[in-house]
Amino acid sequence: VVTAAHALSVADAAARRRSIRQYSAEPVPRADLEEILRVATLAPSAFNLQPWRFAIVESLELKAALSAAANHQKQVASAPAVIVLYTDTADAVARAEDVVRPDLPAERRARALASIAKHFANRSAEEREAWGYAQGYIALGYLLLAAESLGYQTSPMLGFDAEAVTRALQLPAHVRVPALVAIGRGVEEGVPHHRHRLARVARFT
Ligand SMILES: Cc1cc2nc3c(=O)[nH]c(=O)nc-3n(C[C@H](O)[C@H](O)[C@H](O)COP(=O)(O)O)c2cc1C
Repeated sequence: VVTAAHALSVADAAARRRSIRQYSAEPVPRADLEEILRVATLAPSAFNLQPWRFAIVESLELKAALSAAANHQKQVASAPAVIVLYTDTADAVARAEDVVRPDLPAERRARALASIAKHFANRSAEEREAWGYAQGYIALGYLLLAAESLGYQTSPMLGFDAEAVTRALQLPAHVRVPALVAIGRGVEEGVPHHRHRLARVARFT
């Protein structure tokens, strides 16, 4: 396991991270995957509802199904693991008691639960899942940085057929799939960052 003592800082991980589409076959140890996911799940979310879910795909059979669903993008077959990041807002809202802090006084817990219920009461299933999507991308950002920080490379993907992915993993039809993430030890450099200058995207007013 890569310990925190050897981990890169957030700034260093962001600077070094690039989308990597070619990997060595070396599997990612379960403990490292768990550590990366543990860090990703420290991401914040509205109401602390944490609607993100992760399916870690390592079997050749399931990877083949994901590869077909992802237009045969080479990183899917090349990486030793592919993380399917999906969101299930229905489940997150139904289990809201799990995420309201247990140490709060009963009255404040009840108020927090009531405000969650009120927020979602008149939302369509589509709106709930769109909301979950937004939270999922926060976890995606954390995940990409956590992986790099712990010495692994990644490739986030949106180029896939979500229905084919949910079918392959036998997920409920209402979940959303913000991204697939190929992960492993990269064997290519990737493309140097080419970003907008800060002044193009940020304005101090
Ligand atoms: C949400 C998301 C979806 C992406 N989808 C794909 C994809 O389907 N295929 C791909 O090759 N790259 C995909 N990328 C990678 C981007 O092209 C890449 O992040 C961008 O060009 C910047 O390059 P860098 O990641 O190397 O810094 C995706 C990135 C993000 C964040």
